[in-house]
Parts: sequence; C-alpha cells; structure tokens
Amino acid sequence: SRKIKVAIAGLGTVGQGVWKHLRARRKELESSMRCQYSLERAAVRDLSKKRAIRISQKVLTDDAMSLANDPEIDVLCELMGGTDEALKVTKAALKNGKTVVSANKALLCDHGDALFRLAKENGAHIYFEASVAGGIPIIKALREGLVVNQFPQIYGILNGTCNYILTRMEREMQSFETILQDARRLGYVEADESLDLDGWDAAHKAVIIAYLAHGKWIPLKKMPVEGIREITLEDIQWAQRLGYKIKLLALILRDFKNDHLFASVQPALVPSDMILANVDGVFNAISVTGDIVGESVYIGRGAGQDATASAVISDVVDAVTAISHGIQPEEPVNRQDLKLARLEDV
Ligand code: NAP
Ligand code: HSE
Repeated sequence: SRKIKVAIAGLGTVGQGVWKHLRARRKELESSMRCQYSLERAAVRDLSKKRAIRISQKVLTDDAMSLANDPEIDVLCELMGGTDEALKVTKAALKNGKTVVSANKALLCDHGDALFRLAKENGAHIYFEASVAGGIPIIKALREGLVVNQFPQIYGILNGTCNYILTRMEREMQSFETILQDARRLGYVEADESLDLDGWDAAHKAVIIAYLAHGKWIPLKKMPVEGIREITLEDIQWAQRLGYKIKLLALILRDFKNDHLFASVQPALVPSDMILANVDGVFNAISVTGDIVGESVYIGRGAGQDATASAVISDVVDAVTAISHGIQPEEPVNRQDLKLARLEDV
C-alpha cells in the first residue's frame, strides 16, 4: 500500500520533537502499524531561524496554508499555536478532507464545536491527545478505557508551568520571576504566557475534558478562572505549616440528579498526604471518578518537548493506521444522548 504523507505546521518546541522522534522511530512504528509513512514537509514562520534538529531547508515553507492545500498530504500536524492562522490552516485542511493532529487546546476550546462539525461534513478527522496534560494519554483513557462510565467528578493539575513554579517556590523559596525564566527555557510556557499564569491554559484543557466526559462545550465565561500570580512565598509557607500544598486545580463536577455541570480553575489547598499534593515540577495529574470504575489517577509530564511529542505521535500513528487500513475513526464523543447540563446555574 502507499506511504501516508504527514506534514508538520510549526517546528518549535513540540514540532521539532515530533519531527525528531517520527524519524528516529520510523522502522519500529511502521512495523507495528503494518503500513508506512513519509515526513517530508514542515511550515515555520521564520525560514532563517536556527533549529535544534537537523533539517534540510528544502523541506521548509513559511506558508502553512500551502500544506493544508497540498493534495499530496494526508495528515497535517498543527503545532503552530495561537487561534488566528492556526484556525485558518486547520479549517482549510479539514475542508480538504485531511486528518488534523492538534496540540492546540486554545483553538479546540474556542472553536472545537465548529471544527468537529466541519470535520464531519468533509469526512475529515481531528485527533488531539496532546492538547491536554502533555504526555498523559488522558484523551484515550476517557474515550476508550473508561467509555462505559459517567463522570461525577474529575479534577487535577493541568498546567505544567504553574506546577513547576509552585513546586520550586516551595522547595527553594526562589522568586516567581527567576523560576518563570527557567520554565521558558525548558519550553513549558505558552507564547502568550498569561495563558499559563492566569489559569486560562488549564481552563482550556478543562473545557476539552468536560466535552469528552459530558458532550458539552462549556463557555469559558461561565467558569471561575484564577491563576497563580497572586500566590506569595508566605502563602506557601503558611500552607506547609498547616499541612497543605498549594496547587492550581481544575475541577469538573457533574450533578447527574439535577443535571448541573460546573467547571473551574483556582489555586487550592491540597492536604499534604493526598496523591496530587505530591505531584511536583512539570508533572500533571488527573483524578477521574467514574460511576462504574471508581477513582483512577493519571500522572505524567504535562509539558515539554518529548512528553508532548509522545502524545502527538500516538495520534499520528492512529491517523496513519486508519488511513492506510481504511478504518473509519470514531467520532470524538458519543455522549450526546446525555441530557445537556444547565450551564446557567454555574
Ligand atoms: P513554539 O515553540 O512557539 O513553536 C511554534 C512554531 O510554530 C514555531 O516553529 C513557529 O515558527 C511556527 N509558527 C508560528 N506561527 C506560524 C505561522 N503563521 N506560519 C508558520 N509557522 C508558524 O510553540 P510550542 O511550544 O511548540 O507549542 C505548539 C503548540 O503545542 C501550541 O498550540 C501549544 O499550546 C501546544 N502545546 C505545547 C506544549 C509545550 O510543552 N510546549 C505542550 C502541549 C501542547 P518559527 O520557529 O519560525 O518562529
Ligand atoms: N504551557 C502548557 C503547560 C504546555 O505549561 O502546561 C502544556 O500544555
């Protein structure tokens, strides 16, 4: 069978990781998928920028839209970020019937409803494992492993940057600004870092989880959202003395009896003996309570090049396998039969 053609729009922290590992693990991946892929084109903003990976200038373009419109390309990984050009490129790719792999939680949160509809209309598909909790396969867990469950409670640490900053403030009593510089250097921080520090990135991820768990897109304006800028070293010391850690927690609660859905992102005092209190650094953790399975907790690296590339590549593998073997991927959510939550009661 023919090689499935994969292209990457965006060769920054995540894109370079995806490029590197998709190339290095090609033989192993192709053997387990029983099909082949090629990775020959990528889009960037600045063609003259020096990159950490070895890549020929010939495969690069500064016109991401040209990848979305290239009839040769089957799978487009949107790893540019932002919600302007990324939206245009994603829409064009879907209209052209391509599979899109996205790590862009802001885009999915703001436009997920329209994008999934567009994908359906055009026989296209969107995969988005890397959009929530970096390397933790939480999307697959919710869609596949836990599919029989209803979810009264999901909560967790969904922003690696904030957890990294809070952890180092607690351990080293270093200033917020010094630690933030390290987080930037490590590739954890969004281009618009207010998304991380003011809680919006965690909120975007909570919205995506709520959609998977409840089939409902929660408008951000209905959510209480607060970040970590106001947390001081003194707050952290007081919390420690009283037996708590301060964590930025996202919460998604569903009251099935009264059909209410609630989501929020706020700094919280977590008792030191709880699992989540001991999830430190760039790690994320998600506690999912299913009515049938009970509670399960998922922990792993929530940001950074390799962890995120691992999640993106799991989607590329699903996409390439589906296209090559002619398998129709499942709809992202099959929970529309649940009653809609009364969001106005949030
Ligand atoms: P990044 O390091 O800022 O990289 C963005 C890349 O996109 C750069 O290569 C940039 O080109 C390119 N780009 C931006 N605008 C473009 C345009 N209009 N046309 C063509 N190329 C364009 O960002 P990142 O950290 O890799 O994040 C990418 C996406 O993954 C974002 O949606 C982010 O939220 C998500 N994500 C990131 C992480 C993480 O840990 N970093 C984890 C999970 C999800 P130049 O290099 O030429 O500037
Ligand atoms: N900036 C995000 C974070 C990247 O720190 O969690 C991973 O989504």
